[in-house]
Amino acid sequence: MKLKLITAGAAAIFLAVALSASAKEVIKINTASTQMVLVTDKDAPVQFYYWGEKIAGDGFADRFYKKRPDSAESCAPQLYPAYGGSMFLTPAMRVTGPDGSLVSELVFDSCLQESAPDGARRTVIVLKDKVQPIEVRVRFDVYEQYDVIAQSAELVNKGRKTLTVHELASSFLPLHSGSYYLSHFGGTWAHERQWEEERLTRGSKIIESKKGVRTTQADSPSFAVSLDAPLQEYSGQVYAGTLAWSGNYRLSFQLDEYGILDIVSGINPFASDIRLDGGKSLETPRMLLSYSPDGMNRISRNFHDWGRRYGLAHGDALRPVVLNSWEGAYFNFDEKTLTDMMDRAAEFGIEMFVLDDGWFGNEFPRNGDNAGLGDWQVNSSKLPRGISYLASYAVSKGLKFGIWIEPEMVNPNSNLAHAHPDWIVGSGNGRENPTMRNQWLLDLTNPKVQDFVVKTFNDVMAMSPDISYIKWDANRHVENIYSPYLPKDRQSHFWYEYTRGLYSVYDRVRAAHPDVQIQLCSSGGGRVDYGAMKYHDEYWASDNTNPVDRLLIQYGDSFFFPVEAAGSHVSASPNHQTGLITPLKFRFDVAMTGRLGMELQPSNLSAEEQDYVKKMVAAYKELRPVIHHGDQYRLISPYDDGGYSAEMFVSKDRCEAVFFAFSMKYHGRTEYLETRFRGLDPEASYIIEEVGGPKRPVVRESGSVLSGDYLMKAGLNINMVRPFDSVVLRLVKVN
Ligand code: DGJ
Repeated sequence: MKLKLITAGAAAIFLAVALSASAKEVIKINTASTQMVLVTDKDAPVQFYYWGEKIAGDGFADRFYKKRPDSAESCAPQLYPAYGGSMFLTPAMRVTGPDGSLVSELVFDSCLQESAPDGARRTVIVLKDKVQPIEVRVRFDVYEQYDVIAQSAELVNKGRKTLTVHELASSFLPLHSGSYYLSHFGGTWAHERQWEEERLTRGSKIIESKKGVRTTQADSPSFAVSLDAPLQEYSGQVYAGTLAWSGNYRLSFQLDEYGILDIVSGINPFASDIRLDGGKSLETPRMLLSYSPDGMNRISRNFHDWGRRYGLAHGDALRPVVLNSWEGAYFNFDEKTLTDMMDRAAEFGIEMFVLDDGWFGNEFPRNGDNAGLGDWQVNSSKLPRGISYLASYAVSKGLKFGIWIEPEMVNPNSNLAHAHPDWIVGSGNGRENPTMRNQWLLDLTNPKVQDFVVKTFNDVMAMSPDISYIKWDANRHVENIYSPYLPKDRQSHFWYEYTRGLYSVYDRVRAAHPDVQIQLCSSGGGRVDYGAMKYHDEYWASDNTNPVDRLLIQYGDSFFFPVEAAGSHVSASPNHQTGLITPLKFRFDVAMTGRLGMELQPSNLSAEEQDYVKKMVAAYKELRPVIHHGDQYRLISPYDDGGYSAEMFVSKDRCEAVFFAFSMKYHGRTEYLETRFRGLDPEASYIIEEVGGPKRPVVRESGSVLSGDYLMKAGLNINMVRPFDSVVLRLVKVN
């Protein structure tokens, strides 16, 4: 066999090894410490040999070969199997050809090296169907230093006749081990990204959304699979991925008769057949993948650093502390309500004031959620001097100014709905069009609607040069899809084209307003994915601001997203969603584990509370560089039985760290939390200081100097017994 090696490394090496008479090629896709190995052969499917820690040397010849035992080579795990032949499982691709045939057979054509648009190193494996004029380009964009690989595919119809594409996955990963534990993130409104783990058994487990919008409220297009044992933070082999797509998705985990787990990820094929005309191509979104030989935490840190560089807008910036008007005023405000809030915000040291819903609509005033959406003119009875007055008032107080919009939606009670019924996603056939939160969805497959949404954004920005932040909300999902714009035979393109329309709008908005901060919101955390995130600076993690729930929600978020991207606000107690009463310190300490903000009526705080707020906002600003740009170590999961939760952040140079611990229940008088630190410099000594401490210190060592080695091996005892006790420690290197 003649084996040719292609290493897709920083310096690509092409090496020919003469082993025998056939023409096998080994393609290695390397990151700093991981490696994917694919093997190609002329006119044969590309085989997926390995993904894991980088293997030293080139000892991967035939004995490295893996296939389903007792089966033909054609049954070996493939890179991108199409439906047909002995592919009995969910394939990566399924199409109906122009002649009605359901069968495809993708074989190796060529391998190319190029640069992705963002500069990533790209390997493209070109596959072609043995009979039909179909080409599939499987792409791997390699982010070497982050150990992240983005996989995607493009199907090109090279013939003249139309094909129907039923399924086209972003990635197909065949793994083999004794057992598999799947972590994923389910939930509902105000209860997003609850971590769940299950051992996979034979058959299929599907994680999906069919909702089109608010796709990440009930589940998320992210997974972590640990081999042979439940997921651990600092040990065990873990494979994880998150799909960069803001529409319907499907992640399928199918465990076959050989014990091989195929993970097939991508756009949800449900009701989404695409008619692909001759000469046209169809691209999938990117599945972002990372592997760790030593637990989940490393993968999270990979994604946090990758996200800061590639996945978020302005990922290297420190996010400002925000006061948002929603829970403090809801729809009930006038100019004075808002300027009073701004006065207090400025006194507190807050940096940005955000005017939420309720500021627009005249004929159909937005005094509740049943009117006004679509009519983006300022409500002149509430705000007679307009947005420009409010924004310049904010600036005069040293605050930045932000404003809320929901430009994809329309209330039936609006001028827009009356003027443009043809812009509204309906039910078709004269069927009633159901509202959700009293609103309909605008049809972003229609370029005129895209223009309207872009114009809405531009017009709002033009209301004042002092607007520096937009909160972009989306408060319903999609039912009964019928697009008045799409042709009859292409209604099933809706799900795909809606998301592409949204991205086209985002592209235009970002090109026109590169500096504005944009918050991604969809009834809270209903659209948290790296497809949308790259246009946004942050997301609103949940409409649930109860700190105990936020520990769970933000824990789930932190698996793939850096914490500074999560809007995390101190709100009133009792909490408006849950009624839970918690101390202000606990609410602050939890909110400081993300992008700190406040969302309450400041005048309801006592003088003592206001002083505390000033102290904590100042403290957060000091800690912010470490929280926003450091390495996050999850120490105790809020799901652990112990009723504690703890995490810490360490600056990249290991000179500073911030530690947070929370008590979520009563522990009895004799129990205490013993915790060991991570990520510190073992050789260095750190002075420990309790931040915004309670009346009685909970850590004896506050004020002491201890070595990083001691803190990581022996750790500290923390005296937190009552529910909602919490502690924040700042560690600063002294030598
Ligand atoms: C849902 C968002 O998540 C809230 O923060 C708030 O902006 C409301 N919409 C306003 O309608």
